[in-house]
Amino acid sequence: MKRLIAATLLIEKCGTVADIGCDHGYISLYALKNSLADEVWACDISASSLNKARKLLQDYENVRFFVSDGFKELPYKPDTALILGMGGYEIVKIISGDKCADTLILGPHNNAYALRKALFMLGFGIVKDFCVCERGKYYDIIKASRTDKNAAEMPSEEKLFWGIFCDEKSPTLKQRLEKEESKLTGYKLTEINAEKLRVVREVLKWQR
Ligand SMILES: C[S@@+](CC[C@H](N)C(=O)[O-])C[C@H]1O[C@@H](n2cnc3c(N)ncnc32)[C@H](O)[C@@H]1O
Repeated sequence: MKRLIAATLLIEKCGTVADIGCDHGYISLYALKNSLADEVWACDISASSLNKARKLLQDYENVRFFVSDGFKELPYKPDTALILGMGGYEIVKIISGDKCADTLILGPHNNAYALRKALFMLGFGIVKDFCVCERGKYYDIIKASRTDKNAAEMPSEEKLFWGIFCDEKSPTLKQRLEKEESKLTGYKLTEINAEKLRVVREVLKWQR
């Protein structure tokens, strides 16, 4: 729940919030309970997953349900979209399509590097970027807003890997990096692993 709570706390009041890949519907429930939007759209590619959300949210009137691959079946662009609990590449595919919201709250389960890179290429600026630890596992949470494409400069490798604000002290990030450093030092030092280790050690310097 720590991951979901951290993400939902980033929602700002607006007209329409879409919960893409809603599954159980907990994110939509939070937005509805706290009146964060005029309408909440619970969306999932799987009809059976969406049924779980229908059950959970049955007492609310200002919620609509969509079986949809990303934004494809939505009537128009929502103001804010939350996309959590999917791989980074799947999220990239979704946000590259039409009707993508201008404000995104994202929780990739992996490949956050590729997602940050894609956000910059698509003209989004990252405004929040941190990790939370839940039951020993680390999760990235990223909030991004559409910005003037020319103004955004591609961040360094360190920031693409470990978060745009990885030069600001965070005990959770430090702990995550220390674990990663000890994992990587146990691996065969291929060129790729050596580069990963270099990046980890560079960011660790900023965290100490
Ligand atoms: C692991 S659940 C995550 C549920 C919730 N968002 C969370 O973070 O706890 C992933 C959900 O995303 C849905 N999903 C996967 N790809 C999707 C896509 N392209 N469009 C919409 N939903 C998708 C799956 O059906 C599944 O219900």
